[in-house]
Amino acid sequence: MKRRNIWIWLVCIILIVVAGIAAIWWTLHKDDEIRNSINVTFKTDEAILEYGEKKEAKDLINDMNGTIKQYPNIDTKTIGKQELTFVVEKEGFSKEFKYTVEVKDTKGAEITFAQDTYEIQVGDDFTPDQLQISVSDPVDGKLKESKELKNGVYILRHNVDTGTVGEYECSIKAKDKNGNETKKSVKIIVKAKESPVNQTVQPTYVNGILLVNKNHPVPKDFGGMDNTAYSALMDLQVGAGMAGYSIQMLSGYRSYEYQAQLYQSYVNRDGQEKADTYSARPGYSEHQTGLAFDVGQLDYGYGDTPEGKWLYEHAHEYGFIIRYQKGKEHITGYTYEPWHIRYVGVKVASEIYQKGISLEEYLGVD
Ligand code: DAL
Ligand code: ZN
Repeated sequence: MKRRNIWIWLVCIILIVVAGIAAIWWTLHKDDEIRNSINVTFKTDEAILEYGEKKEAKDLINDMNGTIKQYPNIDTKTIGKQELTFVVEKEGFSKEFKYTVEVKDTKGAEITFAQDTYEIQVGDDFTPDQLQISVSDPVDGKLKESKELKNGVYILRHNVDTGTVGEYECSIKAKDKNGNETKKSVKIIVKAKESPVNQTVQPTYVNGILLVNKNHPVPKDFGGMDNTAYSALMDLQVGAGMAGYSIQMLSGYRSYEYQAQLYQSYVNRDGQEKADTYSARPGYSEHQTGLAFDVGQLDYGYGDTPEGKWLYEHAHEYGFIIRYQKGKEHITGYTYEPWHIRYVGVKVASEIYQKGISLEEYLGVD
């Protein structure tokens, strides 16, 4: 072979090798370029999502070079951090991007009552069902009542005493599944029973004598000062004075409204059951008729004092009876009141005194 030919071959081989290397280098470099160009940017550095929120992974993305065939799922029903993997593809290459989201539950259960305050009458039944309670988590829905407070339930406490007029509270504490605590309470007002006294109530007269007791009320607008009874009281006071006693009038006519206030103050102090043993409900008091007076001393021992004894022995001479006697509580409905006198006229009062009976027994009516 000639020398010249050898050189030609050599140059050709070198060119081929160089071209090959260039081709390989170019191919490799191009792949890197594609790989490097794959990118995704997110709207925020990290995402805090609300428990139960509807959020798709693609909404987290701001910009992207490449495509995503399948977006990762976000589980917003699981509290805490989650790492999402986004696989971005371009021209046969792919690259993974990690992104962290954190799911937080910031909303506790909502507690609602049908009303902010709830009124019932004393003696009425009360169960918390009447409050139409709803305890519901915005994501997990209704919570159930439980005896002890733990995640996913609520507890209910109330101090309502339907037997006693007053203000009470029913409170609810709830914990949602994720431990968020919420509470709310409702005021429950136990009111005195509204007296059935109204236009249809008629005063009860038996043989011309007005009977007012727990079974026989008078209308709201009934009554007033009674001049006959009042002047009989003046006479009694004069008679007592002559016997050496000064019997004070402590209470006389009381309006329905005043009796209501008085009764209520006793209920507040002693509770209704107790108050009913010594105070008449509005519409049920003899004081509203103007025929009754409290005299002397409001003291259970008054009947044993010389003045109280004088009153007991002489009231009938002026037309009065001691209305609430000892031993007649089951008939009159009230405890003994040595100071409460009721005008019925001399004839009737004398008969009642002689027989030692109550007005109810005298009239033959309960
Ligand atoms: N203390 C009597 C019973 C009244 O309140 O009328
Ligand atoms: Zn009285």
